[in-house]
Amino acid sequence: MSGVPRPERGLTGRTAVVTGGAQGIGAAVGERLCAEGCRVLVYDKSAPHGRATVEAWRAEGHAAHLAVGDVTDPAAVAAAFADLPEGWQRPTLLVNLAAGFVFKGLEATVTDWHAALDPTLVGLSLVTREFVAGLPERDADAAIVNMASISAHIAQSGFLTYNTGKAAVLGMTRCLAQDLAPRGVRVNSVSPGTVWNANNERFHREALGLDRAAAESAPEHGGKFLLGRFANPAEVAAPIAFLLSDEASFITGTDLAVDGGYLAV
Ligand SMILES: NC(=O)c1ccc[n+]([C@@H]2O[C@H](COP(=O)([O-])OP(=O)(O)OC[C@H]3O[C@@H](n4cnc5c(N)ncnc54)[C@H](O)[C@@H]3O)[C@@H](O)[C@H]2O)c1
Repeated sequence: MSGVPRPERGLTGRTAVVTGGAQGIGAAVGERLCAEGCRVLVYDKSAPHGRATVEAWRAEGHAAHLAVGDVTDPAAVAAAFADLPEGWQRPTLLVNLAAGFVFKGLEATVTDWHAALDPTLVGLSLVTREFVAGLPERDADAAIVNMASISAHIAQSGFLTYNTGKAAVLGMTRCLAQDLAPRGVRVNSVSPGTVWNANNERFHREALGLDRAAAESAPEHGGKFLLGRFANPAEVAAPIAFLLSDEASFITGTDLAVDGGYLAV
């Protein structure tokens, strides 16, 4: 910590980058960081979702900016960090949420493996490298949160590609925490259980014929979490904001389960 008192939890006035922030959990994270007084840069490959999300935050008086690009594209990532709005300081907060959503087993092709792992791992590394390049060599007072999952900790049938990527995020988090600690950068991850966002709503409705209430009362769906339900995106955004904040100033290199108790039993 810089030792300079900062309002609230040390988030006010900071610039935060959220990859995958155009929708879903990422949009909830951006919304939460806006509410904490951050300037929020959304880096996402979806221009329509990104524009709608960022414009809604701006309409509420928040400082928000969209950079459209893929996390696996080094030039686009570099441009996003170089082309900040006037008056914004270099980001000191980063949330790596963009991931490869490929759920396959041994049938996965080389193309499938790249689609699964390139955004989750290579993209995380590229964005983090660009973020770190803008920080001072020491006392950077910066924090990173990476998105893992309960899938990082367990076996799930047919999830070889996805779970491999998420498990590797835990390893990347520890390695980055070690490498970046001397510069004053904390690095942690979160592991959510199922979060009720648009994708999961569609999956449960179309593939299983279940609405939220029916899915949560089913033992193999919402019922498998100790709390007997899915998470709301805001319930994942809050612990991410905590890990970014001064309140987590002695926490680095660890993973926080945000899973309704799933991994406890
Ligand atoms: N939804 C869940 O139940 C759940 C549970 C645990 C972990 N997670 C993780 O949380 C994160 C967000 O998931 P979500 O469910 O909110 O997803 P989502 O599909 O709602 O949003 C993902 C966003 O990331 C963007 N994105 C995807 N690939 C990208 C790329 N290569 N470059 C730039 N942007 C890219 C998409 O355009 C989208 O806006 C992911 O890392 C996911 O693995 C989700």
